[in-house]
Order: sequence, then structure tokens, then C-alpha cells
Amino acid sequence: MSVRKPLPHDAAPLHVTGAARYVDDIPTPAGTLHLAFGLSPVAHGEISALDLAAVRAAPGVVAVIGPDDLDPMPDCSPSAHDEPLLARGTVSYHGQPLFLVIANSHLAARKAARLADLRCAEAPAILTIDDALAANSRFEDGPRIWTRGDPAAAIAAAPHRVEGVIEIGGQEHFYLEGQAALALPQEGGDMVIHASSQHPSEVQHKVADALGVPMHAVRVEVRRMGGAFGGKESQGNALAIACALAARATGRPCKMRYDRDDDMVITGKRHDFRIAYCAGFDGDGRLAGVTFTQYARCGWSQDLSLPVADRAMLHADNAYFLPAVRIESHRLRTHTASATAFRGFGGPQGMVGIERVMDHIAHSLGRDPLAVRRLNYYAAASGPAGGPSAPPSPPEDISNQKKPTTPYGMEVTDFILHEMTDVLAERAGYAARRAAVAAWNAENPVLKRGIALTPVKFGISFTLSHLNQAGALVHVYQDGSIHLNHGGTEMGQGLFQKLAQVAASAFGVEVGEVRITATDTAKVPNTSATAASSGSDLNGMAVKIACDTIRDRIAAHLAETHQTDPRRVHFAAGKVFVGEEEMTFAQAAQSTYEARVSLSATGFYRTPGLSWDRIAGQGRPFFYFAYGAALSEVVLDTLTGENRILRTDILHDAGASLNPALDIGQIEGGFVQGAGWLTMEELVWDAAGRLRTHAPSTYKIPAVGDRPGVFNVTLWDGANTQETIYRSKAVGEPPFMLGISVLMALSDAVAACGPGYPAPDGPATPERLLAAIQRVRE
Ligand code: MTE
Ligand code: MOS
Repeated sequence: MSVRKPLPHDAAPLHVTGAARYVDDIPTPAGTLHLAFGLSPVAHGEISALDLAAVRAAPGVVAVIGPDDLDPMPDCSPSAHDEPLLARGTVSYHGQPLFLVIANSHLAARKAARLADLRCAEAPAILTIDDALAANSRFEDGPRIWTRGDPAAAIAAAPHRVEGVIEIGGQEHFYLEGQAALALPQEGGDMVIHASSQHPSEVQHKVADALGVPMHAVRVEVRRMGGAFGGKESQGNALAIACALAARATGRPCKMRYDRDDDMVITGKRHDFRIAYCAGFDGDGRLAGVTFTQYARCGWSQDLSLPVADRAMLHADNAYFLPAVRIESHRLRTHTASATAFRGFGGPQGMVGIERVMDHIAHSLGRDPLAVRRLNYYAAASGPAGGPSAPPSPPEDISNQKKPTTPYGMEVTDFILHEMTDVLAERAGYAARRAAVAAWNAENPVLKRGIALTPVKFGISFTLSHLNQAGALVHVYQDGSIHLNHGGTEMGQGLFQKLAQVAASAFGVEVGEVRITATDTAKVPNTSATAASSGSDLNGMAVKIACDTIRDRIAAHLAETHQTDPRRVHFAAGKVFVGEEEMTFAQAAQSTYEARVSLSATGFYRTPGLSWDRIAGQGRPFFYFAYGAALSEVVLDTLTGENRILRTDILHDAGASLNPALDIGQIEGGFVQGAGWLTMEELVWDAAGRLRTHAPSTYKIPAVGDRPGVFNVTLWDGANTQETIYRSKAVGEPPFMLGISVLMALSDAVAACGPGYPAPDGPATPERLLAAIQRVRE
């Protein structure tokens, strides 16, 4: 079978030779025009005059579209209808598009976009979480609150308590390919769009709305993205709409790609959070009650902020049973770019909250943080956990968990982190290395080491239940070659290769027989974004259903011609076996075609068993959980704050992996991206609301040299207890949160400098670490 093989990414040779085609590489027809937005130079204000005469007169400019040229103003938002394509009247953030330049070249459009004469009455801008709280500027009427039990009473009655606040910065996606779209006008007003988008159906929908045509008049194609990470769920809508409007206005193909600096200024990023916590616990560190107040900075429009903030609440428990808990979530509206989806979708922020609590408890009791974490883990799964030869390890005390349920009332039936933690701690030598770190720190005054093992439990499914559906379209041609199409998009994660493996397995052929084709709204309609890590879960099932339909038709046909039972027809090794006879898959296809039996089928899948009430915060939002654990050791220069990850060991649960090579790639990349978020990727806005870190010169993402010196990644490789595609598990986002181990290891290193609790904020830059060192010494 093709699944389970560690095949390389299907496009890897194209990626590394530069032959992979992205939107900007598509050869454009003669006469193609190029677009650029003119951007707001202020964060908040009322436009009194926008004179575009100089823009129109600039060399190479063909046309300019200002806000008054559009009626109605097209909307770019994913759901709330609160994102005008161009600001009209009110300006809501620095960098907001004000007008659209259409020119003969990319450079001409960009140069002209700087020539506008704008008169704008600047108004005070709400920029920070504090500004928003002071002005009560928010989405939804008030905070969303989920409660279980009486945490205030539990905390008051507990023998110990800790409280604190952690600030967690946002994150720029820094996909290598920036946002891009190309619109090709067709006869009769139809439009074909090539977009760099995780959500072709939404681009289709938004472009159709903007043009005032039905969705059937717009076709969107996405071959691949050069990285997306959530930043292309909604942030590409504006470019596609702009291209479509310009293409209709001029009758010529129109292309738009953001320059990197513009991309960083215009588009949304990960939500920065502040989380205040208070926890009561016993002398061993067992939680009695905990409260979290989460403040999310959402930016000027709603975008996906409500579900992002919901997911932060849903992961406030991470891997821990919270007997009494209150989670309060504030969704704050500010005059900054609208924060959006980013790998983990709020989950990472929620998890950092509880991981900080665990660390703080351990520090206050002088206990090993791993012992405190394990004490608070959910009770182990009662049934077979599915792990490979894991030693049984009963938790220290789970008497308070009759049924292990999350704060939102979902039973945790497959908790495998006890076994996973045992295996990882054993393999990576946690106990001995912890002692070695202490010994090192006792002898070294300048360089301090730190070590931490943190778990991840991440819920898999879209929390908007209706999105958990997918479709596929498969053709077998008469020569036996297979054309595969589905609703998922490829952004580097290897989804297409995994699904080609699923299709090849169904037909018993090599993966090379399966042609992977671009995502296309005309082939599979009404798709969800490729997001929530569910691309392979959802589309994999749809592909398998479509392939099984065709395979069963071939089997039925051959059984009839050979006067045998269809159950005696087998597909393997590129051949079809009918009873004692065998033929090539191509011969079987040819024969089926000549018998006038269809060799084309659709497949459709929806996730079973979900029910979720987001207002009450109750139900089963997730099909299952994916688990992981990471052990990181760091060294910190206490004079400069510089630091390095010496070694990271990861054990991650991808279920029964569809492709171990791609899964390990996702885990390595996710971990490094998560560690980057919490250590070096710092976004800085000035007092005027301008993003000062708008290029790689000022915004530092992890480089090759920043990966751990020793980096061991292993798959847990137990079967999913839920019936997913070949019992695999989603792997796109969960490993991101393994990066939290680095923040905790740095905190551990700082703790070696003095008696206080370090509590570094994220990202723990050298500056912040130096400040933390100073604090613990006081
Ligand atoms: N991996 C690569 N190489 N590039 C990406 O853009 N996006 C991540 C993750 N891994 C991403 C990636 C995010 S945010 C998600 S939701 C998943 O991939 C989406 O793909 P999947 O559902 O097929 O895992
Ligand atoms: Mo991923 S943040 O769900 O696109």
C-alpha cells in the first residue's frame, strides 16, 4: 500500500529547482495590468479629501479606483461584512488600502501609489489592549465567560495560590510567497482567478459578490501556496477582489502581489494576548481551582477573531484536568491591522496560559515542574491507548476525575500523554539531565542552562461544525492513469502527496500513477478553507470514498465478465486479480470503459458526532485530540540575554501516520515556528500605530542556525481511536505548541539566577530575559 510510506513531497524537486509555479510565475497574456494599493499613513481619522490627480498622471498608470468610484463598496471580510475593500470616510489602521492603482507594470503601480494627496483629520487611535479596555472598544457586547464549578471558592479554600499576568506577542506569518492574485476576464462577464489562498471557495464567493454575479460565473484555481500558515485564509480576499474589479473595468487580465513590506503592514497577524491568572492548589501542586482572563487584540475588523478567541478558551486546559475553572475572554477592537488565523488559531495562546500556571506552581513549591504537570494531567484512557509497547503508568492521583472531562464538558477518552511522557522522559534522559543542569548552574556564574518538558493536547475539527465537510472528484482514464482532485489546498504541508497515496492505495497502484491537480472551484464546490489541520482528515476521506466507488464499479464489471464474485477481484501492485486471472490496472480500466461503465466519481465526507454551543461553551467541538510532548534544553548568557536551544526531543502523535516523512517535516517546522514566536519574533508598533518591524531587516524569524543543536523527532505512531483516514491524525498545527517548551526552558534558566519567579513575557527576547534576570535577583 502506498499510505504509510515516507515519500518526499511531490513537488520537492520543483521547489528546490525553482520550477514550482506560484501565482506570480504563471505566464500572463499580453496586456496584463498590475495593481497596487495606496495605503493610509494614519491609524485613525476622517478623510476630508483624497486627491488622486498626481496618481492618475503618473507614468504607466492606466486607471485609478478611489473609494467614491465603488458603489456599493465591495466587502472583503470572511463573515462579518465589516471590511470595505477601500476605506471610505473613516480610516481604521495605518496601512489600510485607500485606493487602487492599475498600471502597466508592478513598479509603475507601486510608485504611483505614493503620489496621493490625502487630507485626513487624525483622531486618537486605540492601539493597545489597555487603550481598548479604557475605551471599552470590543467585538461582542462583553466578555465571553465559561465556568465550571466555583473556582473562586476552590481557590480561597486551597492551601496555596499563585497569580500573575503574561503578555504574549503576535506573529507575522512570513510565508515565503507573499499574497498574490491574478484575474483573467472571460467572455460574458465570467472571471477566472488564480489565487494564493487557503480558501478558494471564499475567494469565489467574495469575488462574485463584488462583481454582482452568481458564484457560477467565477472560477478560482489554486495550484499551491508558498506557505500560508493561516495568513491566507482570509487575507487574500482583497487582492482577488481588486484584480476582478480591475479586470472587469479594463477588460484586461490583472495581477496583484504585495511587496513584502506592504504585505507585513496590510495583512493581519497572530493575535497578541494578555492572560491574567489565579490558581489555588495543594502542597503537591494539584490544582483545586483556576481562573483565566484572556485579552485578545483583534485589530480594526472582526475577521476570524471570534473563533480564534474561542479556541484560546478551548485550550486553556491544554493537557490538564481543571476541577473548577472560569475562563473570561475579551475580544478587543483596536486601530491596527485585523489579526487573523495563524497556526494553532488561538490554541497556542490559551495553552501558554496554563503552562505558565504549571510552571509558576512548581516554582512556588520548589517542585519539579514535570512532576506538577503530570499530577494535573487528565486521567489516562481506560481502553487501549494504541501506543506502541508503552509501559503502563498510572497517574499519581486521579481520584478527583470520575470522568475526565474538559471545562467545556467533552469527555477525554483517548488521553495518551502519561505513556508518551514516560517514553520521552526516559529516552531523552530527563531526570539525569535535570540534575546535570542544576550541577552546571551551580558552577557557572554567567552561562545558565534550563530544561523543560511540556505537553500538547490539541482539538481537531473546525469549531464551526458545518465546516467539517469535504469533497473529491476522481477520474480514471482508459489508459489507467488517475486524475485526482479535492477541496484541499497545498501550502507546503504535503496534503497533495498524502491524498495521492490514499488514491493509489485504493487502486493498488504506485503513487506516480496518480496525477495531482490544482484545487478548482469548478471541480469540487463549496469547500472549507484548508485549515484547522483537518485537510487530510476531511479530504482524505472524500478521496477514498470517490476512489472506492470507482474501484467497486471496476470490480463489479470484471466479476460479471469473468462470472465470479466481485469479492474475488483484488487490486494490488499495479494489477487487478480476478479469481485466478490477472491483468494490468490499465487493461482493467480499458475493459470497464468499453463496457460503458463510468470511471469518474465524486466523494463526500462529513465528520460525525460533533455538537457545540459556543455561547454556553458546552458540547463536543472536536472529533478527537492530537497529542505531543517536547523536551528542550537551552543555554542562556546572563550578561547579554542571548541564548541557544542545545537540544530538543519530541515525541508526537500523528496517529497511524499516512506519511512519516511529511509528518516529521510538519513537526520540525511547527516546533521551530512555535519557538520563534515565543523567543525572537517581535512585532513593534510605534505610538502612531505604525508597524516598525515591517521587513526581515527588523523582524527576525528563526534561521537554520536557530534550530536545536540536537533535534530528535519521533512519531508515537499509535492508531487513532476514532475512525479517521487510515487511523491517522491531523498534524499541521499541534506541533507548533511544542515550542512552548523553549519558553519554559528559558524561564528555568533565568530561575537559576535568583530566588524570584522569572515570568518572562513572550517573545522572550534577550532584552526581556535580561529584565527577568534582574527581577529574580531582587
Ligand atoms: N506547513 C507548511 N509547510 N506551510 C503552511 O503554510 N500551514 C499550517 C500547517 N502546516 C502550513 C503548514 C496550518 S496553519 C494548517 S491549518 C495546516 O498546515 C493546514 O494543512 P492540513 O490541514 O493539510 O494539515
Ligand atoms: Mo491554520 S491557522 O488553521 O490555517
